[in-house]
Amino acid sequence: MTDEKLAIVVLAAGQGTRMKSALPKLLHPLAGAPIVAHVLATARALDAARVLAVVRHERDLVAAAVEAELPGTVIVDQDDVPGTGRAVELALDALGDFDGEVLVLNGDVPLLNADTLAGFLAQHRGTGVAASVLSAHYADPSGYGRIVRSGDGAFDRIVEQKDASEAELALDEINAGIYAFGAGALRDQLANLTTDNAQGEKYLTDVIGLLRAAGSEVEALPVSEPWLVAGINDRAQLAETAARLNALIVRGWQLNGVTIEDPATTWIDLAVRIEPDVTIRPGTQLKGATAIATGAVVGPDTTLVDCEIGANAEVKRTDATLAVIGEGASVGPFAYLRPGTVLDASGKIGTFVETKNARIGRGSKVPHLSYIGDTEIGVESNVGAGSITANYDGVNKHRTSIGSHVRTGSHGVFVAPVTIGDGAYTGAGTVVRKDVPAGALAINVAPQRNIEGWVEQHRSGTAAAEAAAAAREARETDVD
Ligand code: UD1
Ligand code: CA
Repeated sequence: MTDEKLAIVVLAAGQGTRMKSALPKLLHPLAGAPIVAHVLATARALDAARVLAVVRHERDLVAAAVEAELPGTVIVDQDDVPGTGRAVELALDALGDFDGEVLVLNGDVPLLNADTLAGFLAQHRGTGVAASVLSAHYADPSGYGRIVRSGDGAFDRIVEQKDASEAELALDEINAGIYAFGAGALRDQLANLTTDNAQGEKYLTDVIGLLRAAGSEVEALPVSEPWLVAGINDRAQLAETAARLNALIVRGWQLNGVTIEDPATTWIDLAVRIEPDVTIRPGTQLKGATAIATGAVVGPDTTLVDCEIGANAEVKRTDATLAVIGEGASVGPFAYLRPGTVLDASGKIGTFVETKNARIGRGSKVPHLSYIGDTEIGVESNVGAGSITANYDGVNKHRTSIGSHVRTGSHGVFVAPVTIGDGAYTGAGTVVRKDVPAGALAINVAPQRNIEGWVEQHRSGTAAAEAAAAAREARETDVD
């Protein structure tokens, strides 16, 4: 049920300078989704009456990511007054006379989950204070704002790293960047913010000190697990956060009945789906909307992007994107499956095989060293080792059609467009330029001609010529 008294403001306008990146910080991917999308997913779970996102840096890109994750989010544009305080001030303008609770979420704190946030909100509402701040104790608090408490332990104010004294820098309780405010109290104090600090910004954190000075009560509530509120400012923090999230995702699948042999080298995006009794071997990345059915064995050293893997299939040392692998089929080792590859049940794409836009029918096999592109293959056919579909004439791509129960010889070239009928054979080394009717054998290799004595005549003085001479002499002695 929608919480009519709750508005959520996601701060997403900052420049993310410390990332040193052309891509806006909040759009860097984390388990396959932009950082900011994780925050919006959490916001969605709380079912607030209003969700607003404040944007400015790379405004259109960030706004598009916000809308993609949570359609209906109100986009608020920050002006050129910098700081988290200014961002919230503009969001409050957009909220009009809303008078419930305002939950403010830093867009770069992606691991916080809805349960923790719901608990925080309930605690805030329970105490009836003007504002609550989520905090955490960090062994290394550098980079974060510190929670300053007075002698009796009561929460006093937040000091930013850049404005902190030596003694304040030594404090290990950090401001997580997650706040709950009564809308009225927040609105009153935002009006009093100044940019009088080391960064020349309107700090949202100063609202806390102002509320305290005005006699309001404020609470800092520490989270149980500090990593829940880890912020991402630079790429080292991005990698740490990604590893933490991945460990959670891997563990989730393990508890759901998936064997994951080496969690440290297995990376699974949030949107991936895996059935019980799948085995994931070391060095495997499962990305995008990949789905794996029960009994399949994937890896080692395999990357699957947006792939569908059927039950009991085996995919070894493979790189695949937008491929569909049927039940009991086998792929790799060392296969490269490009978009549009469909391998039906019990089929095989073997070693050093590249496929693209190719449908390989039930039980059909492309076992070794081949390129199969823009092709359909029927059922139970076998494509010989080292076969190439020559699908590109330099201007256009053309299709190759191979029927059912076909046997093609090794080192075949299929010059598309070309069709091989059901039950047909091709000889080794055939360059198939014309259609092959069903049941025919196609061969076009010229008869072999042996030119006796050629090496001794044309390569005299070489080791080959000496070996040839020795063999000839031995033959002549035998004859004598
Ligand atoms: C902020 C807090 C700090 C806290 C830390 C937690 C302030 C002043 N400091 O610091 O106390 O420990 O988060 O992670 O709030 N943003 C805007 N508009 C702006 C500036 C920032 O929307 O003008 C957004 C950013 O996109 C980001 C968030 O606000 O999502 C936090 O900004 P950032 O610059 O990363 O603040 P920190 O220095 O990490
Ligand atoms: Ca930050």
